[in-house]
Amino acid sequence: MTLPRSDALVFFGATGDLAYKKIFPALQALARRGVLQFPIIGVAKAGWTRDQLVERARASVSEHGGLDQAAFDKLVSLLEYVDGDYNDPATFAELKKKLGRAERPAHYLAIPPSMFETVTRQLAAVGAEKGARIIVEKPFGRDLASAQELNAVIHRVFDESAVFRIDHYLGKEAVQNILYFRFANAFLEPIWNRHHVENVQVTMAESFGVEGRGKFYEEAGVIRDVVQNHLLQVIGFLAMEPPSSAHHEAIRDEQASVLRNVRPLDPKEMVCGQFRGYRDEPGVAKDSHVPTFAALTLHIDSWRWADVPFYICAGKSMATTCTEVIVELKNPPQVVFTEAAPRMGNYVRFRLSPEMTIAIGARIKAPGEKMHGAQKELSVVQAKTPDEMSPYERLLGDAIAGDATMFARQDVVEAAWRVVDPVLGCEGDRHPYEPGSWGPAAAESLADSVGGWNRPK
Ligand code: BG6
Repeated sequence: MTLPRSDALVFFGATGDLAYKKIFPALQALARRGVLQFPIIGVAKAGWTRDQLVERARASVSEHGGLDQAAFDKLVSLLEYVDGDYNDPATFAELKKKLGRAERPAHYLAIPPSMFETVTRQLAAVGAEKGARIIVEKPFGRDLASAQELNAVIHRVFDESAVFRIDHYLGKEAVQNILYFRFANAFLEPIWNRHHVENVQVTMAESFGVEGRGKFYEEAGVIRDVVQNHLLQVIGFLAMEPPSSAHHEAIRDEQASVLRNVRPLDPKEMVCGQFRGYRDEPGVAKDSHVPTFAALTLHIDSWRWADVPFYICAGKSMATTCTEVIVELKNPPQVVFTEAAPRMGNYVRFRLSPEMTIAIGARIKAPGEKMHGAQKELSVVQAKTPDEMSPYERLLGDAIAGDATMFARQDVVEAAWRVVDPVLGCEGDRHPYEPGSWGPAAAESLADSVGGWNRPK
């Protein structure tokens, strides 16, 4: 069910880090586009006044993307603030007053999941859940069981059709383009299967460490931080069956269906690592075993993908910052041209960041007497345009408009937890690796059978 457009936006955690880094800049951008025409109410317990929140918003947009005076003024003209404890009914009575005649508020919980139960209960107690939708942030639980509990807590007050779970990867142009490129062109579908695809590699390398988020990262580790969510969503788009129609749930149905066919991970097919220096980060235990790197093999037990290995390599403090997918195609039979079979002769490459690229690797005859080839790429590189929407702008706009397509549905989230559950807490020896490298040497051999890992430059 698509929902009608919201007529108020409430965001809990208004004085927090996420609001500062992402939400205010997205709200300013939405104000610039004219999307915001209703009350925006920040809620937090900080002992602040509205003026202090406005100053915080100004600092936020100035640091993250730049102040657009007209759009900012528009945002401020709509901005209200409620300061109070989430356990205190008076906070919600005040919120309800500020909501005025709004009938379809969007409540955005940019707060720790441990507070969800309190906030949803309090919203219901003042009747602010009626006609409302709820937007929630990752992490959606710590494992399958806690995700199910969290969903049950939310569902006590909100129907699943009113729940918008943000995975900001789904709001990225380049990620949406995997879906678009696959299903808007006819030439891929005949080869997008086990008969033609040799293997798939997804690399998410980040050259930076945990950037002051040590405390958070200690609770997460690489599997919970990016594999269970961002990277499995990417695999879902790469591997899903064609959505059956333009029905608004069709994409999420296929996403759920393919993730249900991903075999739960096997610790024997995974190598974890921790960059040297991680234990010196603030908030990190001196004897921490939390992995900052994982390389693993994943299998999809479906008619389309049986026996095609999918590899994931993700880590912090790596040689570069780049997220890239390589779908390697099988080599043609080497009977016409007497060349040694090339590694990665034909492939499709999706670079998801820092810039967006879609490329096709092909062999072209090298000039000269011999029938010998050279490796070339046919590629499209799409630089960011000034008016490109940030993932948060896109997703908040969609949530306000009532379109949940690019949000993680409960069954998708739970299917993803089911995949990673067997390896949580048993990540094996965390091999130390040097910052600026490609991770521990022990991970190298995992991809030996396909000629080694993709190392994006
Ligand atoms: C976040 C993770 O969800 O995604 C971070 O918590 C990670 O650890 C980030 O760095 C990556 O997102 P992006 O948009 O910078 O690629």
